[in-house]
Amino acid sequence: MKVLVVGSGGREHALVWKLSQSPKVEKMYCAPGNAGIAQMAECVNIKAEDLDGLLAFAQEKSIDLTVVGPEVPLTMGIVDKFNEKGLKIFGPSGKAAEIEGSKTFAKDLMAKYNIPTAKYGAFTDADQAKAFLAEVGLPCVVKADGLAAGKGVLICETKEEAEAAVADILVDNKFGDAGSRVVVEEFLTGQEVSMLAFTDGNTVVPMVSSQDHKRIWDGDKGLNTGGMGAYSPAPIYTPDVHAIVVPEVLEATVAAMKAEDRPFAGILYAGLMLTADGPKVLEFNARFGDPETQAVLPRLKSDLVDIFLAIIDGKLHEMQIEWYEEAAVCVVMASGGYPETSDKGRVITGLDKAAETGAIVFHAGTKETDGNIVTNGGRVLGISALGKDIAEAIANAYKGVEQIQFENMQYRTDIGKKAFLA
Ligand code: AMP
Ligand code: GLY
Repeated sequence: MKVLVVGSGGREHALVWKLSQSPKVEKMYCAPGNAGIAQMAECVNIKAEDLDGLLAFAQEKSIDLTVVGPEVPLTMGIVDKFNEKGLKIFGPSGKAAEIEGSKTFAKDLMAKYNIPTAKYGAFTDADQAKAFLAEVGLPCVVKADGLAAGKGVLICETKEEAEAAVADILVDNKFGDAGSRVVVEEFLTGQEVSMLAFTDGNTVVPMVSSQDHKRIWDGDKGLNTGGMGAYSPAPIYTPDVHAIVVPEVLEATVAAMKAEDRPFAGILYAGLMLTADGPKVLEFNARFGDPETQAVLPRLKSDLVDIFLAIIDGKLHEMQIEWYEEAAVCVVMASGGYPETSDKGRVITGLDKAAETGAIVFHAGTKETDGNIVTNGGRVLGISALGKDIAEAIANAYKGVEQIQFENMQYRTDIGKKAFLA
């Protein structure tokens, strides 16, 4: 088979890495990819949002399976476009991806189908949104409705901050069209867990649990980022929690999407807060998480091509999906200045030495220039490793990290440590 992966981050490198292990794959392409992906796939210079360019490429090369990493092409309807032309593509339709593309849609769906989530209101009018602030109390959370690359969520400690956040989104259009509506939410406390599931719209097969580390600095300090590391499993996600989340969140949501005539086939990612009142959904994503994927896929024993094909054919119930018992940890190495700016063009050394430790080196913002691999974005690398338990996986991942050097690099030294608090 000829397989095309769409995207250019660490998640897509992990997808290419796992998919290329399938005996079914003869040729792997990635658009646009990065310097690490280029070592295992042919990278083509087509942006993930260039749906016409991707379609033309898939037709020209007779691609047998396209796999979409990021949310933007999904919400733009790439899956519908490929399906119209009879091309096999893995991911939800544009209508189904709205579960990530519109927070109002997701919250209304959860309210209608009793899926546990924070109390909320959704508004297009700033005065109405401000009037609602009193109902949710402080702190509260103000969110732009649409996709904002993780930046559209503002946690507000005071009434003034919350009013300013509403004004930023609705009046000053700080997030453009993504902010034509605002969601105001009750602030939840607890530990966060990511539960990703395979689903063909009927059957739901949960993956192993994982936990992201969103803040830039150790101890969960500093600004929110795209994710500085992940580990799997998350011990706080106990069998008791799983027994609630599977029926009440994952299966209930897939059934709700079907009932709404938006059948969801692809990866359903539930971002959960484990509160004293039980698990509650913070957000849904319509795709694999980054960096969770770099910790979850190394634990997958089954052939990912088989799983994707079963989902496309509506036959997920026939699959037996197997996982390795070992734990996995992914440590993200980021550029200087991230997440506010990103320092580009710094030469990266030690990549081979890191791989020799047994760690898996997933590239994100990298490119090849004059025979060197250089930094080319905020998150540069994700170093993943397995171990018999989280402690060993942490030690193995950091052995890889220690081999790598680039100017102004930053990484957290405490990835996975939260596992020991559970
Ligand atoms: P979201 O994109 O909606 O998941 O929000 C991004 C991050 O903001 C989450 O991972 C949480 O850390 C935080 N967050 C979002 N909603 C809430 C909430 N209702 N209460 C507390 N924290 C939240
Ligand atoms: N790790 C968070 C996300 O992928 O959205």
